[in-house]
Amino acid sequence: MTRIGVLISGSGSNLQSIIDTIKAGKINGEVVVVISNDAVAYGLTRAENSGIRTAVVKHGDYNKRRDFDAELVRILRENRVELVVLAGFMRIIGATLLNAFPDRVINIHPALLPSFPGTDGQAQAFAYGVKLAGCTVHFVDEEVDHGPIIIQAAVPVLSSDSKDDLKSRILSCEHKIFPHAIALYCDGKLRIEDRRVIIAGSDELLLAEESLISCPGLG
Ligand code: GAR
Repeated sequence: MTRIGVLISGSGSNLQSIIDTIKAGKINGEVVVVISNDAVAYGLTRAENSGIRTAVVKHGDYNKRRDFDAELVRILRENRVELVVLAGFMRIIGATLLNAFPDRVINIHPALLPSFPGTDGQAQAFAYGVKLAGCTVHFVDEEVDHGPIIIQAAVPVLSSDSKDDLKSRILSCEHKIFPHAIALYCDGKLRIEDRRVIIAGSDELLLAEESLISCPGLG
């Protein structure tokens, strides 16, 4: 059982999808701590509702990012975390945390990287006028939204869409691919070769997983 620490900043719907997938017995791991940089993040309530330990580390309390990261590392280590999952964590993490958990930090980004990194990837994609948007689960490195890609899912952008329509269509896909990527990690099926993430058992697994390619709006 991989011990998972989840970092959040907000609603925590991705956290919920991870918790639900674990409860369904589909991830060989457990969420042992949820840390938020925002004391009123609803994700903290979700964690408490599932009996998961929580902690709040307010970034405003630290002058240097290094010290903020060090406090995160302290809590993660105290809980013997093996995999760090950034689920809507809106702070950039640096070398202090990455060196403590090499190749053991993963993130979900609401765009098809390397397009539209940074904040509000969905709005960037919408404003650019792309016809395919989506989301990406990737290992985290020191550059923002840059590390080796584990899984991506694409969704259409329809002419009738509002920005919020697109955002919610992407979010539904996030809820599918993020737990799936975590399950692959916990099963030891991910190997990084240069920038490429090789999935043991091959990509057949992904194509066969119907949920990964059926998204609202596609019919
Ligand atoms: C998600 O859309 C996630 O991809 C995004 O924040 C949202 C969090 O929602 N993350 C980023 O933009 C990180 N760059 P949630 O709190 O309901 O899971």
